[in-house]
Amino acid sequence: MSIRPQQPGPATPAPGKLPLTELPEMKARRQPIVMVTAYDAPGGRLADQAGADLVLVGDSAAMTVLGHESTVPATMEEMLMLTRAVTRGAQRPLVVADLPFGSYQVSDEDAVRNSIRFVKDAAADAVKLEGAGPMLPRVDAIVGAGIPVMGHIGLTPQSATMLGGFKAQGRTADKARQLVDDALALEAAGCFAVVLEAVPAPVAAHVTERLEIPTIGIGAGAATDGQVLVWHDLLGLYEGHAPRFVKQYAGLAGEISRALEAYVAEVRSGAFPEEKHTYAMPQEELEAFEGAVPKVR
Ligand code: KIV
Repeated sequence: MSIRPQQPGPATPAPGKLPLTELPEMKARRQPIVMVTAYDAPGGRLADQAGADLVLVGDSAAMTVLGHESTVPATMEEMLMLTRAVTRGAQRPLVVADLPFGSYQVSDEDAVRNSIRFVKDAAADAVKLEGAGPMLPRVDAIVGAGIPVMGHIGLTPQSATMLGGFKAQGRTADKARQLVDDALALEAAGCFAVVLEAVPAPVAAHVTERLEIPTIGIGAGAATDGQVLVWHDLLGLYEGHAPRFVKQYAGLAGEISRALEAYVAEVRSGAFPEEKHTYAMPQEELEAFEGAVPKVR
């Protein structure tokens, strides 16, 4: 008798999941790849329903949902909790978990151990890490463990201090050449895609032409194979200075404020709750109840 697993194992794509191998085919067909960040189950579900191909549980969560000034404080435990929530909501899109700062820089072993936690404990399909150079052996080690890795170069927020702040990168010929070399090295190390953040459009276009794997741009122009935006930025939920590459598709912070102010006012005025928001009970049960308890007024 053969025993078959009832549920797909962690290395087995769930039914309906976009196959990873579809991404280079989309690049070859010049079919834009859509990635968006999400940080909870409703976000994962809405991104899925909207047709996103990739959902990134970005360490931008440190700023957008946890209230920090940068992405650096995000912890493994926080990122695991958010990733578990997103993977419960997103079925078809590939869910990419961002390795937080400190979870992969020290050693290949840390990088592999923490990547395995995302796949095994949080059902992520892939992980993302920032940088090239010293991070190339990390990519090789994680891919060697059977976990797909997305690279991220250009403006890498975890090392923004080293880069002189949240600034566009690759704006000199030397720096642009370095970006091309880094992208090629990440591809050679085994990345399945590379995020290019805040780099001049012609440089991103050149990298995109040179790589066989897809590039996903954020502030990198229109020639990349895909685009990514941060949930709070595109929905107008993040109160703060938005980078120039953000397009806001809604102004939900204003909408939420209006709703909350109306709720506060209605509770204070007694307009909420109304009869239709309350539960009744059978008259005889009410009378029995009132007979059994002391009168309060
Ligand atoms: O953390 C994040 O949201 C990201 C995207 C900006 C690519 O890394």
